[in-house]
Amino acid sequence: MGFKEQIDITRLPEHIAIIMDGNGRWAKNQGKFRVFGHESGVLSVKDIVEGCVDIGIKYLTVYAFSTENWNRPIEEVNALMELLISTINQEAETLNKNNVRLNAIGDLKSLPQKCIDDLANVMEITSKNTKCTLTLALSYSAKWEILEAAKRLAQQVQAEEITLEEINEDAFAAQLTTAQMPDPELMIRTSGEHRVSNFLLWQIAYTELYFTETLWPDFRREDLFEAIVDYQKRERRFGKISEQLN
Ligand code: IPE
Ligand code: IPE
Ligand code: MG
Repeated sequence: MGFKEQIDITRLPEHIAIIMDGNGRWAKNQGKFRVFGHESGVLSVKDIVEGCVDIGIKYLTVYAFSTENWNRPIEEVNALMELLISTINQEAETLNKNNVRLNAIGDLKSLPQKCIDDLANVMEITSKNTKCTLTLALSYSAKWEILEAAKRLAQQVQAEEITLEEINEDAFAAQLTTAQMPDPELMIRTSGEHRVSNFLLWQIAYTELYFTETLWPDFRREDLFEAIVDYQKRERRFGKISEQLN
C-alpha cells in the first residue's frame, strides 16, 4: 500500500510549512553548479503543490528565500531571483487550472522591482482561487516579522488606538504576515538539517516537526504523503496527558 492510501483524509493538517533545503548539495553531488539544484527544486515545488491539491491541503507555505540568503554570493542571489521571476510567470496558468491562490510573505519590498511586479500580478490573477493557498516566503525571517508586529502594536498604543491590555496572542498574531491562515500543524525540513533557520517562529509553537534526509530536488508527493502519515501517528497533547484527549 502506498502512503497516499494510508492517509486519513478526515484528519489532514490544514496547513503544511516546508523548509526546502538541499538544492546546492544535490547539484554538487552530480558535479553540477548549485543553480542547477535550484532549477530542479522548482519541479519538486510543482509536484508538492499538485500533491496538496490532490489530497485537499488548504495551505502550503514554502521557505524559498530567507533574509540571511541575501548573504550568498551575488551570482547565486541573482540566479535565484531570475528563477523566481520565470517560475511565477510560467506557472500562473497551472495555478489557475488547479484552483491555487498564490500568496507571498516576507520583506517583499527588498526584492528586485520586476519580482515585486510579477508577484503582485500573479497574486492578483490567482486571487479568486479557493482550493489551496500557496505562500512563498521570500526575503523572510521570523525575527523580522515579529519585530514588525511589535512595532506596529507599539505605534497603535502610542496613537491610543488600542490599550496595552488589548495586546493578547490573537492581537499579536493578527499583525503577523500569516494573519489570514491557521498555524501550520506540520513543518517539514528536507536535507537532514535539524534546525528552523528563522522560519515561522511564532506560528510553530505547537507544530509537529518532520525531518528527512531527502534533498529537496528529490522530494516528491509520495514523500509528502509519507510525512503526513507520520504526522497522523503522533499524539498531539498540547500539554495535557493522554487520558484527557478523547
Ligand atoms: C535551499 O537549498 C534553497 C535556498 C536556500 C534558496 P540550498 O541552496 O540551501 O542547498 P544546500 O543546503 O546548500 O544544499
Ligand atoms: C533555509 O535554508 C532557507 C530556505 C530554505 C529558503 P538555508 O540553507 O539558507 O539554511 P541554513 O543556512 O542551512 O540554516
Ligand atoms: Mg541549505
